[in-house]
Amino acid sequence: MPNHPQADASTQQNRLVLLTGCSGYVGGRLLPMLESLPLKLRCLARKPEAVAGQVNSSTEVVQGDVLDRPSLDHALAGVHTAYYLVHLMSGSKDFEKEDRQAAVNFAEAARMAGVRRIIYLGGLGDDEAAGLSPHLRSRHEVGQIFRDSGVETIEFRASLVIGAGSLSFDLVKTLTERLPVMLCPLWLKTPTQPIAVDDVLRYLLAALDLPPGESRTFEIGCEDITTYGGIIQEYARQKGLRRWLIYVPVLTPYLSSLWLTLVKPAAFEVGRHLIEGLKNPTVVRDRKALSVFPFRPMSLKEAIARTIEASESRGS
Ligand SMILES: NC(=O)c1ccc[n+]([C@@H]2O[C@H](COP(=O)([O-])OP(=O)(O)OC[C@H]3O[C@@H](n4cnc5c(N)ncnc54)[C@H](OP(=O)(O)O)[C@@H]3O)[C@@H](O)[C@H]2O)c1
Repeated sequence: MPNHPQADASTQQNRLVLLTGCSGYVGGRLLPMLESLPLKLRCLARKPEAVAGQVNSSTEVVQGDVLDRPSLDHALAGVHTAYYLVHLMSGSKDFEKEDRQAAVNFAEAARMAGVRRIIYLGGLGDDEAAGLSPHLRSRHEVGQIFRDSGVETIEFRASLVIGAGSLSFDLVKTLTERLPVMLCPLWLKTPTQPIAVDDVLRYLLAALDLPPGESRTFEIGCEDITTYGGIIQEYARQKGLRRWLIYVPVLTPYLSSLWLTLVKPAAFEVGRHLIEGLKNPTVVRDRKALSVFPFRPMSLKEAIARTIEASESRGS
């Protein structure tokens, strides 16, 4: 706890925080929470006009693109803490190369601007395991690039984020609602430990107030280890749907693509990369987040219940 709360509060008020990815799923939800804190907020957006209606009048929006290195100097000038909630997967076929370049650009600009901390949300998955998907490998590489830059980095590693509007959870929701009988690949039995979006946001906010120190990586997840099939079954149970999952040893790319045609075409590229990632176990092996942060993430059951409630109140 701080020794001088008043001095600490005034320091916080002067702290300039940069939020990237404010038009995205996680960043868009973090934005109003940051705006409610006593700090100065700046958002980096590729299209500032697209986020103008989303931000408070006190929030500065600057134009920038993580693939455009010079645009980052202005965005990061005077910044104390920078959130990196960007990924390029949706727009790019060669996302690994571009994600790497984006991270190198951001890390270099942050170091030159004297940024004290980068807070980054990446993906769970065992680096040592053979066959880590390109998506997860790339998420880990981004964290490593930040740490190697010398800017203190707080990396959170999460599996599927459960929440209304999360693309990966929407895949689960759409498939469950549309297919009473699903032919499933065996990797839907892969262990995973998803997390509620509200808990992700709690961790991201709490990272602002961690004492300065070394770079740290926190693996985060809900209470339960489940499988993707388990998430589908729990969602179906809570929606009162009877669903049959029939596991087949080999699901051809053709059948996989049939699954994905049920989802909106814009989601196809992202969905394909996410589905490749489902083959890797994504469970919390390092549980230190539970001792460092003063809260416990909710259960899978509660995360899904909250999501259903939020979707129903949005009418989706
Ligand atoms: N959602 C999940 O289930 C989940 C699970 C685990 C980890 N994560 C991690 O959480 C982070 C955020 O994910 P998300 O689901 O919120 O992503 P998202 O909804 O796809 O949003 C991505 C954001 O990145 C921005 N962006 C893309 N290319 C950019 C560029 N070249 N320059 C600047 N900004 C750019 C997008 O802005 P534009 O509006 O300009 O496109 C958008 O705001 C990612 O690192 C992801 O790996 C997410």
